[in-house]
Amino acid sequence: MLFWLLALLILCGFLWNYKRQLKIANITDKYIFITGCDTGFGNLAARTFDKKGFHVIAACLTESGSTALKAETSERLHTVLLDVTDPENVKRAAQWVKNQVGEKGLWGLINNAGILGVLAPNDWLTVEDYREPVEVNLFGLISVTLNMLPLVKKARGRIINVSSIGGRLAFGGGGYSPSKYAVEGFNDSLRRDMKAFGVHVACIEPGLFKTNLSDPEKAAEKKLAIWKHLSPDIKQQYGESYIKKSLEQLKGTASFVNMDLSLVVECMDHALTSLFPKTHYAAGKDAKTFWIPLSHMPAVLQDFLLLKQKVELANPKAV
Ligand SMILES: NC(=O)c1ccc[n+]([C@@H]2O[C@H](COP(=O)([O-])OP(=O)(O)OC[C@H]3O[C@@H](n4cnc5c(N)ncnc54)[C@H](OP(=O)(O)O)[C@@H]3O)[C@@H](O)[C@H]2O)c1
Repeated sequence: MLFWLLALLILCGFLWNYKRQLKIANITDKYIFITGCDTGFGNLAARTFDKKGFHVIAACLTESGSTALKAETSERLHTVLLDVTDPENVKRAAQWVKNQVGEKGLWGLINNAGILGVLAPNDWLTVEDYREPVEVNLFGLISVTLNMLPLVKKARGRIINVSSIGGRLAFGGGGYSPSKYAVEGFNDSLRRDMKAFGVHVACIEPGLFKTNLSDPEKAAEKKLAIWKHLSPDIKQQYGESYIKKSLEQLKGTASFVNMDLSLVVECMDHALTSLFPKTHYAAGKDAKTFWIPLSHMPAVLQDFLLLKQKVELANPKAV
């Protein structure tokens, strides 16, 4: 009996794996649109999917990013200049994409553009510090999606939202985690709404990767700039030793980031080309083995493990 149960489980595992490997046909007929292609995951994705034979439309924030990408890719790849926070720019880009794809529609929309913003304790910040990451990571993503949606529906295609482990666990204050938690919410409701149209919506949750966004030196610089303008009260509560140690800790993150950006692009690839794509993809060993499992644990355990890493305040009672 135990033998047959085991055999059945192995067979189910085999079939499940086999199903996940089935691929769509006619990649060379299909158009995909990717935001934030100047650097990082978006840039590697544009180059990878161009090599694979997709018609890639790569949205870059800067002229220099666009020129550099074009120099490295085939004539099939087109670039558009796009700031996702500019509604007129998004509308114009969607119209341009509509003219390019025609009756085929848009097979893939990869919402990748994003920024980190300031990472610092919440009581150091003003509401303005939250606005920029929320504008880019959330409203920008929603704006691009809503404008491209008719084209994706036409192709019965795929939407891929690049969220983060920061959308499952909040590591520090600032607008990044709130923006990514909201992306997860938008992603889930969109996935259910789009099911009737045959559009698949997937969310990618990368761990910590070495890109411009996660540059610890830049994050430390921004944190120090905020510290310098804090009130004497807050400075007394935290203490000079806090800022010194916390900046060292921030810079120390450079030693355990994932270096291989292709892990994220492989998730995008599966979500774009598998006949049976997943709804959520964790990218990176840290995300798979630690952050995502921890996000399912009770808050008391999350707090215990995350607070263990925090630098101690000098005078939290001096309020
Ligand atoms: N790196 C990580 O550890 C990590 C972890 C989890 C999730 N993510 C997510 O992955 C995505 C890609 O980030 P990345 O790590 O590859 O960083 P990145 O290299 O900085 O890439 C982000 C891209 O977005 C562009 N961008 C910034 N603001 C924009 C705007 N207003 N409109 C259009 N494009 C804009 C940037 O352009 P410029 O280069 O010209 O500024 C850049 O090309 C982001 O959504 C990020 O939240 C990253």
